[in-house]
Amino acid sequence: MKQILMTGVGAYLPEKILTNEELSTFLETSDDWIKQRTGIISRRKAHQEELTSDLAVNAANEALKCSKVSIADIDCIILATTTPDYTFPSTATIVQQKLGANNAFAFDVQAVCAGFVYALSVANGLMSTGQCRNTLVIGAETFTKLLDWNDRSTCVLFGDGAGAVVLQAEDSENGYGIIANTLHSDGRYKDLLYVDGGVSTTGTIGYVKMRGRDVFRHAVEKLASAMDEVLELANLTSDDIDWLVPHQANIRIINAMQKKLNLPDNKVIKTVSAHANTSAASIPLALASGVESGKIKPGHLLALEAIGGGLTWGASLVRYGRPG
Ligand code: ACO
Repeated sequence: MKQILMTGVGAYLPEKILTNEELSTFLETSDDWIKQRTGIISRRKAHQEELTSDLAVNAANEALKCSKVSIADIDCIILATTTPDYTFPSTATIVQQKLGANNAFAFDVQAVCAGFVYALSVANGLMSTGQCRNTLVIGAETFTKLLDWNDRSTCVLFGDGAGAVVLQAEDSENGYGIIANTLHSDGRYKDLLYVDGGVSTTGTIGYVKMRGRDVFRHAVEKLASAMDEVLELANLTSDDIDWLVPHQANIRIINAMQKKLNLPDNKVIKTVSAHANTSAASIPLALASGVESGKIKPGHLLALEAIGGGLTWGASLVRYGRPG
């Protein structure tokens, strides 16, 4: 049986910091309201010319450096995004070209905020059956380009960024790497969170629409059950988790999950205050922040979980790094 190791992480954030204070200069909102309801203080915003693929390439290069894998050895690129550069080709193929990853096959995964856990699980499947050995899994978004800046109930919540991981398949068995995954979706809830445009509907890009309270309720319930599932699959308990690395949508959702899993503060990575909700990029950005700050170390058991539009949701357990 192959082991799918996570041997490197990387992140990239656009330069422009957009604070709550700045938002309240043109929107009927306040730093206090946003902070109290969401935990967000600021977010990054890409320039108009800065594309999702640019963010993705920067994060991928950092992850490659961290894992010491060369681009020639990358044989698969999976990019989770809801904000592609073009309708087609996939943003993953644009990233492939920009990186010069000429020995890879590349494709996008679309599961909105759950995109990274979906991409990780797809990569795990492909790698376990030997279709590729060294995979870049990237979550990258220019989500602020989908926002209606007059809608205070949505535009304060999101930000731009990219995170990436390198996965490597090895024929050994030491309990490292991807241990368990679970994925779910339920299209009956598609109207809770969606974009009101698209190629075959309006022919426009559209804006994010959300029923925040309903999303919140589903988030806590569905994330908790997904986490129970992966722990059961792996025959582990929440006591075994070294770091919960949750999707960073709202500090109240993260805190509710922390409480359900009975984890202390020093076992949860929280980046929502500075990143806001970066959709598919949020987990790999949080991962990179955890590794960079020295909190996440090789051998640590990471619990990843996310929920997004669809609704789509899932969770993964990963023992980070490689042994020795
Ligand atoms: N500033 C000031 N007031 C605001 C703002 C704002 N930015 N946005 C909404 N309000 C007002 C509303 O108009 C409403 O006013 P009213 O009482 O006069 O009608 C009041 O605040 C309360 O609005 P609610 O929507 O009921 O506020 P709630 O406490 O539910 O908080 C929030 C809203 C933060 C969106 C919350 O529902 C939430 O976090 N939901 C989860 C959704 C989420 O995280 N989505 C991200 C994408 S999905 C995902 O990644 C999980």
